[in-house]
Amino acid sequence: MMNNEKEYIVIKAKENGVTVIGLTRGTDTRFHHSEKLDKGEVMVAQFTEHTSAIKVRGKAEIQTSHGSVESGTED
Ligand code: TRP
Repeated sequence: MMNNEKEYIVIKAKENGVTVIGLTRGTDTRFHHSEKLDKGEVMVAQFTEHTSAIKVRGKAEIQTSHGSVESGTED
């Protein structure tokens, strides 16, 4: 297992229909998975051999080892 594959993030949806999108690792960066969360639902997602980036669309609280950030707002 590579070092960058141990990382995981926590996403807590603050509204219905938050989308968590996994993007592929490697030369070709594309969507490979899309997961819908409703308000209050939590997803714990890892970076893996197949996933190098995670995109969150909608209002959510995102916790990582680097800190927390809120998506879907301007502050
Ligand atoms: N099959 C994917 C993988 O092993 C599942 C996955 C892991 C995923 N992390 C993710 C999907 C983050 C969406 C977002 O890489």
